[in-house]
Amino acid sequence: MCRKKQPAVLLLLLLVIAFANVTAQQKSIAQKVDSVLKLMTLEEKIGQMNQYNDDHTATGPVTLDNKKQEQIKNGQVGSLLNTVGTERTRSWQQIAMQSRLKIPLLFGQDVIHGYKTTFPIPLAEACSWDLNAIQLTARVAATEASASGIHWTFAPMVDIARDPRWGRVMEGAGEDTYLGSKIAYARVKGFQGNKLGDINAVMACVKHFAAYGAAIGGRDYNSVDMSDRMLWETYLPPFKAALDAGAATFMNSFNDLNGVPATGNKYLQRDILKDKWNFKGFVVSDWGSIGEMINHGNAKNEYEAALSAVTAGSDMDMESRCYKNSLAQLVKDKKIPVALIDDAVKRILQKKFELGLFNDPYKFCNTAREQVALNNPEHVKVAREAATKSIVLLKNQNNLLPLSKNTKTIAFIGPLVKAVKQNKGFWDVEVPGVDSNFIVSQWEGLQNKVGTSTTLLYAKGCDIEGNNKDDFAEAVEVAKQADVVILSIGERRDMSGEAKSRSNINIPGVQEDLLKELLATGKPVVVLINAGRPLVFNYTADNAPAILYTWWLGSEAGNAIADVLFGDYNPSAKLAITFPRSVGQIPIYYSHFNTGRPATNDENRNYNSSYNDESIFPKYEFGYGVSYTSFQYSNLQMSKKKLKANEQIEVAVTITNTGKYDGEEIVQLYLRDKVGSIVRPMKELKDFQKINLKAGESRTIKFIINKEKLSFFNQQLQWVAEPGDFELMIGASSKDIRLKDFFELIN
Ligand code: GLC
Repeated sequence: MCRKKQPAVLLLLLLVIAFANVTAQQKSIAQKVDSVLKLMTLEEKIGQMNQYNDDHTATGPVTLDNKKQEQIKNGQVGSLLNTVGTERTRSWQQIAMQSRLKIPLLFGQDVIHGYKTTFPIPLAEACSWDLNAIQLTARVAATEASASGIHWTFAPMVDIARDPRWGRVMEGAGEDTYLGSKIAYARVKGFQGNKLGDINAVMACVKHFAAYGAAIGGRDYNSVDMSDRMLWETYLPPFKAALDAGAATFMNSFNDLNGVPATGNKYLQRDILKDKWNFKGFVVSDWGSIGEMINHGNAKNEYEAALSAVTAGSDMDMESRCYKNSLAQLVKDKKIPVALIDDAVKRILQKKFELGLFNDPYKFCNTAREQVALNNPEHVKVAREAATKSIVLLKNQNNLLPLSKNTKTIAFIGPLVKAVKQNKGFWDVEVPGVDSNFIVSQWEGLQNKVGTSTTLLYAKGCDIEGNNKDDFAEAVEVAKQADVVILSIGERRDMSGEAKSRSNINIPGVQEDLLKELLATGKPVVVLINAGRPLVFNYTADNAPAILYTWWLGSEAGNAIADVLFGDYNPSAKLAITFPRSVGQIPIYYSHFNTGRPATNDENRNYNSSYNDESIFPKYEFGYGVSYTSFQYSNLQMSKKKLKANEQIEVAVTITNTGKYDGEEIVQLYLRDKVGSIVRPMKELKDFQKINLKAGESRTIKFIINKEKLSFFNQQLQWVAEPGDFELMIGASSKDIRLKDFFELIN
């Protein structure tokens, strides 16, 4: 045998052994699951499908129930949510170990953007377009959560959202299917790490399945009505990406989809998820959503609701008690076969084995580990970097920013300057026994940054809401003493999030009136806008010389904002969601169709799809964000202009940093299919690269275009690429297209 072949053979042998090992492991888990299932009574099986909220925090309408301990001892509960901390989880697990079969509990928690160390809200993080950074924050969140007894996070939320009236836009990755899919994949990989069972891995839970973000009117929990084609093309891909990343669980959504509540939707949970996509994990309902099918008018009572949900593929019942109260009767009445129960229970037991909980139910209850893991210096560093990368520079007239560290006097004004917990945004975790001292306020961040030569002045100016202008005068006086004013305004953190829909998305209260007064002093004003959603702030946008959209940046907010204000980090983020000029434009998103009478400007309103009273253009487009430096795009090259289905085109473009600051640029590749059997969007994001260039540096980057990037779901829901002409656009945003070219897909 030729010597040089030996390593290849060895490698192949190792691969075969490794695969055999994994298969053997899986087989042995499957055998163990079967052996436990055989021992279980029907009531114990149903117990595994029953999840209760713990008594400390609630993230939904609470059902008071003082029999949890007894039910856990009787093996009637499979999981708890909102139980955090090694002590609390250990105590509940000890009760579960008193049950007949000692099946361990699963502890689930909404670790959406950090456990103790709190990262930017997911929508802010999505604006970083930095997949490694996004995966890293999920990894850190999992490390801290698993150190605190948590096995399972109800994240990532991957709902595509194009309506900022919906408060939960803060929780996802914005409006775009391509970016949202990449981020979904990264977040699952971050949460689950190398493999389930590792001590710092938690199960991900992809939610909310499906199309929850398309709620009519932006009203949370509202109906969703769309074609299957739109569902498949726009809303499902992030779920599939998360599944491809190995997501252990899914959570269904509150909404009805085309008249069928997702919780009782067999098409979603069985036909698509478990059959077509071959999902082997389990589906948990959202809080009470099984029982809510009665409100939907889709089930007459709990008995019918349980029948519908378990038949449709909901494996675990979060908090509705319909399964606990009705499944046994449904079996006795021969409405459902035990096999349906067994399938759900096996899926749940499989994950408990994979996590290693049968071997050691207290595996994640190590208090010493908890103390070391939470918010340690490495995690703090990750949080600060993630936050700086999430800040979007919307405007910087006359290069007002970055500020000089030698600025003599700075007035820091506004109701959010000294706020502490606000910076955590919605869906933060209330960690037992932890105070808020670890959160860096915006005021503190500036104090940490400026030297003794700088005087920091403060005035609140006004509240977030209300019409009281009594403190304006003080704020104006403070501003007059300063060389530069920083104004921090926006929403309260609980004005976005679950059940936080708003019909008016202006900056609340009199905050923009305060800006007007401060601008009248003639001092330069930098505005920080804190929010969990795109807000409407046309006065600020048109009159403030510099604006940073700071979202809710988490526990390192103050330091990150200071890093950007003073140029220690050159802002690189770009919007992952369109910002409307007015709420009347909603839904507004970049990948729209052209229509038969396209409006292309705000001048001609003659028989076209324009508004008579509003621009057709957003205030800030998807993909927009500026830098302290500037970038030039040049030399677009394509390896061919005629593409056969089995070939690919290599695209090259040169990016030059033409400014005086080192900086990062998110180069976006958009495609347009000029003619299709289904009308195609004006442009669709199909690739991007975030590159770091020193001042004056040029780099040529490459993209690949292949048939996959040209494909879409046709009327028959087939994933096809149709021959014809395509437009290639390379842009700094979905509107700022720097280079274009064309190519043809041929048969
Ligand atoms: C909430 C949310 C869901 C969350 C669950 C548990 O109602 O819709 O996203 O994971 O209940 O808190």
